[in-house]
Amino acid sequence: GNGTNGYSYETLQETANFLLSRTSIRPCIGVICGSGMGSLAENIDDPVCIPYEEIPNFPISTVEGHHGRLVFGWLNGIPVVAMQGRFHYYEGYPLWKCCLPVRVMKLIGVKTLIATNAAGGLNPNYKIGDIMIVKDHINMMGFAGNNPLHGPNDERFGPRFPPMNKAYNHKYRSIAKELAKELNIENMVREGVYTCLGGPNFETVAELNMLKMVGVDAVGMSTVHEVIIARHCDMKVFALSLITNECVTSYDKDDEANHEEVLDVGRMRQDILRKYVSKLVAKFAEI
Ligand code: 6GU
Repeated sequence: GNGTNGYSYETLQETANFLLSRTSIRPCIGVICGSGMGSLAENIDDPVCIPYEEIPNFPISTVEGHHGRLVFGWLNGIPVVAMQGRFHYYEGYPLWKCCLPVRVMKLIGVKTLIATNAAGGLNPNYKIGDIMIVKDHINMMGFAGNNPLHGPNDERFGPRFPPMNKAYNHKYRSIAKELAKELNIENMVREGVYTCLGGPNFETVAELNMLKMVGVDAVGMSTVHEVIIARHCDMKVFALSLITNECVTSYDKDDEANHEEVLDVGRMRQDILRKYVSKLVAKFAEI
């Protein structure tokens, strides 16, 4: 390692070279499957699955509802690599380690990152099962000084001070909104602002009301740091949140968020998400 912000470029190149030696597939798009959304990787043709345990320098994911492997293969005719299971901050990894696979994707030639996640809906118009195209994020952990780029910068990945104002590719978002109409799912597709909190506890009523006030539409425990790492190394980014529960913003309500319902809604929407994401991949690969 090189100190406080992760493995060196050379170390990650070793990881990339290992993966390139295990498959002849050269993915141009990387997909991160969110909680309960692992089945996104199940319609990958001619899959080559590599468990995280076998990959040099990879952390091991520990959460229920996640496989913990990379799947290389073809999605709608496009070479892709998918992460079935991601690394969450609440598991105890530093942020740079949560994002290590994104840098490895970059080093194996991936140009576009599609990140998906399960999220709580804060926007009162959102319903369980809605799919939110992420328009922008608020890096709450970053406000508190926790950032995956904290520490020395290696210019081979990207600049010391990367811009973040065009993090979520405008063309990809337009394509996704068009596609939602074509697939007749525009009634469940939204666009909004996502924030990531450290977890593992869900938020208090006061915390959720604060987030609502600052313009957050959906809240989860991932993605923001991965997107920062991807934009730092100039990957193009698209992200989707599956709204798995309504955030409780009133003291009068009895419902409580739980991980089971997160996984249930993932199952409920898996066919639609598989179709949507595989068609998006084909459209993104064209431009
Ligand atoms: Cl309500 N909060 C957070 N932080 N993550 C979630 C969630 C809520 N629902 C699904 N994932």
